[in-house]
Amino acid sequence: MGYPQKSHPRETPVLSKHFGEGESRSLDGWKKRGGYKALELALQMTPAQIVDIVKASGLRGRGGAGFPTGVKWSFMKPGDGKPHYLLCNADESEPGTFKDREIMRWTPHALVEGCAIGAYAIGAETSFIYIRGEFQEPIDRMEAALKEAYAANILGKNAMGTGKTINVYVHKGAGAYICGEETALMESLEGKRGNPRIKPPFPAVSGAFGQPTTINNVETLVAVPHILVNGAEWYKAMCLSNPKSTGTKLFSVCGNISKPGNYEIVLGFPFKDFLYDLCGGPTAGRRFKAIIPGGASVPIQTVEEAEATLMDYEGFVAQGTMLGSGGVIVFDDAQSIPRQVARLTRFFAHESCGQCTQCREGTSWTTRILDRIVAGNGTYEDLDTLLEMAENMTGKTICVLSDSCAAPVVSGLQKFRHEFEALITGKRSSTVAGSQLAAGSSKLTTAGAPA
Ligand SMILES: Cc1cc2nc3c(=O)[nH]c(=O)nc-3n(C[C@H](O)[C@H](O)[C@H](O)COP(=O)(O)O)c2cc1C
Repeated sequence: MGYPQKSHPRETPVLSKHFGEGESRSLDGWKKRGGYKALELALQMTPAQIVDIVKASGLRGRGGAGFPTGVKWSFMKPGDGKPHYLLCNADESEPGTFKDREIMRWTPHALVEGCAIGAYAIGAETSFIYIRGEFQEPIDRMEAALKEAYAANILGKNAMGTGKTINVYVHKGAGAYICGEETALMESLEGKRGNPRIKPPFPAVSGAFGQPTTINNVETLVAVPHILVNGAEWYKAMCLSNPKSTGTKLFSVCGNISKPGNYEIVLGFPFKDFLYDLCGGPTAGRRFKAIIPGGASVPIQTVEEAEATLMDYEGFVAQGTMLGSGGVIVFDDAQSIPRQVARLTRFFAHESCGQCTQCREGTSWTTRILDRIVAGNGTYEDLDTLLEMAENMTGKTICVLSDSCAAPVVSGLQKFRHEFEALITGKRSSTVAGSQLAAGSSKLTTAGAPA
């Protein structure tokens, strides 16, 4: 797995600057790199001042939806007499996304600091870092960092000698994708099954344990110390395209590409340069066919759309998709889009919590129909049924898992319909999948598909 190549002039490692440096994991090593200066600064400010700086920086949530962080923090009403909570979403189960775990593996104190500042800014004395249970190394690193931070009185009842209480705890999840959805995460944190809650009430009114709560992604929170130390204007100036998309963003890149790994770039970077220059283009003898740029939940792009995209929140939308979590999944011309879409929907069907009928039934039937098409037993009517179901799965459920399952189906059918039709007419596609089927592999299923 590649780490950002620090020498490349077009990457801008801010959050990932110390990835790969073992020393940055310890408190001493982190302090040598400027760690905890931002917290010291923050504790001399009022919470409202911090919220204003974060607002002015233009920082938007890196967990998927891109909601402005300072605005979210301002929903927490100071002096309401209630306990407030800050939750850090470190579940990172979105297929294709592997940046948060690297932040926690290499720079755990950055997240402790981000959580401490965030908690203080929203009037919380307690912050929980909800980590996906399989992330054993990141869990170990976070626990070790917290131990050091408590021993050094950075956290606790008299944080940094200021008389303020800031506690940060690690809470392990049990490996369910749905627990990354903010309200399901709260249910899980409370010891219940991770079912999303109907909103309203929104978390800022009634969140974890029924109290006002803010939830932020790991990458969002680790950006905050940099903003406090360097200023909102410094952060805002990191913008290559739309002024509503500021700062750097980590993109995780995987699939059929020469140099997979995590890359940190300033928002607005041309996707074409990113794919061909930074990530080395396709592997020898192949061409890119399609890209999912923001984790499995966002619509598929054709390579032409991807090449015309500027990598920021608005740029991805303008080219028919979303920035999402920044998990870039690349397919080359050896891949069958119907098979890849079926793999994705299988994941969503497996992870649906089952509360909403449209999602429970829709994800499962979508997968069964796609499996049938991929096995060469589909009909044209199946394609209409898939689209009809996708419509019923979009915008009608408690959370957007169902919409996420529909996104690759609709975009796949819109942009690569000929591949689905080729499987139906028996002509099959000219891809690896097609030739395997043509060679008589009738038992081929998506579960057995090669990566
Ligand atoms: C099914 C589902 C899974 C999600 N998984 C994650 C996740 O693993 N990590 C994350 O930060 N956000 C995830 N989200 C988004 C969160 O609900 C929430 O928007 C985010 O944590 C807010 O943080 P931010 O404002 O810093 O982006 C998920 C959303 C859905 C619907």
